Amino acid sequence: MPLVHMRDMLQHAHRNRYAVGAFDLVSLEFLEAIMAGAEAARAPVILSLAESHFEYFDFELAMAATVAAARRASVPVAIHLDHGEHFDSAVRGINLGCNGVMIDASHHPLEENIALTRQVVEMAHACGVPVEGELGYVPGVEGEDAERHPGDVVYTSVEDAKRYVDETGVDFLAVSIGTVHGRMKGEPKLDFDRLAEIDAALGIPLVIHGGTGLSDEQFRRLIERGVTKINYYTALADAAGRRMQDNAGNDARSYTDFTRGVRDAIREEVVRCIELWGSAGQADAVLDTAERWEPVEHVILYNVEGLTDEDVEEMMAEGRRVLSKIPGVLRVGTGQAVKEDAQYRFCWLVTFCHPAVIDSYRDHPDHRRFADERFRPYAGGRVSIDYRMIED
Ligand code: 13P
Repeated sequence: MPLVHMRDMLQHAHRNRYAVGAFDLVSLEFLEAIMAGAEAARAPVILSLAESHFEYFDFELAMAATVAAARRASVPVAIHLDHGEHFDSAVRGINLGCNGVMIDASHHPLEENIALTRQVVEMAHACGVPVEGELGYVPGVEGEDAERHPGDVVYTSVEDAKRYVDETGVDFLAVSIGTVHGRMKGEPKLDFDRLAEIDAALGIPLVIHGGTGLSDEQFRRLIERGVTKINYYTALADAAGRRMQDNAGNDARSYTDFTRGVRDAIREEVVRCIELWGSAGQADAVLDTAERWEPVEHVILYNVEGLTDEDVEEMMAEGRRVLSKIPGVLRVGTGQAVKEDAQYRFCWLVTFCHPAVIDSYRDHPDHRRFADERFRPYAGGRVSIDYRMIED
């Protein structure tokens, strides 16, 4: 199960001066192609899902496929919420299986950016999940033309970056040094000196958004100066689009005619990037050093006194609704024994994304309230154990 802690994955890249590709996916074809590329190049990889793309796919369904793809991979994988807009977006991403989240409050004034980011960091760290913050402004929307991007680049200043990282506790910082999201117009001018100063001042993995359109030489210079995660989307989408245009020219008529070869086109661009950014061949070294991202099963077996079966069903339904919203809870399962004479008639199976959630869930006010008022008074006879799940 090579889902690994993203902090360890990027620390390895930072120490060894290479960058991991964080490729945004918008369909199953992207997911399969990115994974095929990472497997072929034996590279660690980040599967990114951007909130700005949620109009193209159902986030919950896409996460189920993304988690399945990561779990069956033989290379180390992390799953990242890209450009999370709100606190609740970060919670939702974590509870659906993201093990890294970005909170993008970079369009707010510095104080507000710091306040919101700090709130997300506190919540996410209590779930074991690392956080990427952004400072400065990288204009544009992934997949669109540069001309349509509102506003100019606002460069990240070294002083603000230092203060922002100190006060928020983010694990990775997305910096604005001249890139734009989407298709570039003309040659991007990157401020490498500023990047080197930020790297020296912070010493944490740096992230570049708007990877599309940079030259091989620019990538090399970015990575030499501390960039360890490169966000990349538009070039993949364009490679897919070109393949579909070719198919249209060859008399494609059905959906599968149009999309034939799209996976190959995306995979080729993924492999080109992975090789250029130095992550090719690093999979085994990352697997040797990175903490495995393993869920914990919080198991409670219990009997009730003073409640009818109907009351118990109501209590379970409320528990499923309330407890599943607590950060770090992947699933709340409730059950009743198949056999009447079972030692314990009922169970909770609550899946935490990481062992850190054992404590933060226990102390969460919604859990305390539910447990103290709705559950414990009626469930005197119970056992409660947390299990680290052992999987392949
Ligand atoms: P590009 O679409 O320019 O590659 O940028 C992707 C990105 O930064 C996603 O966060």
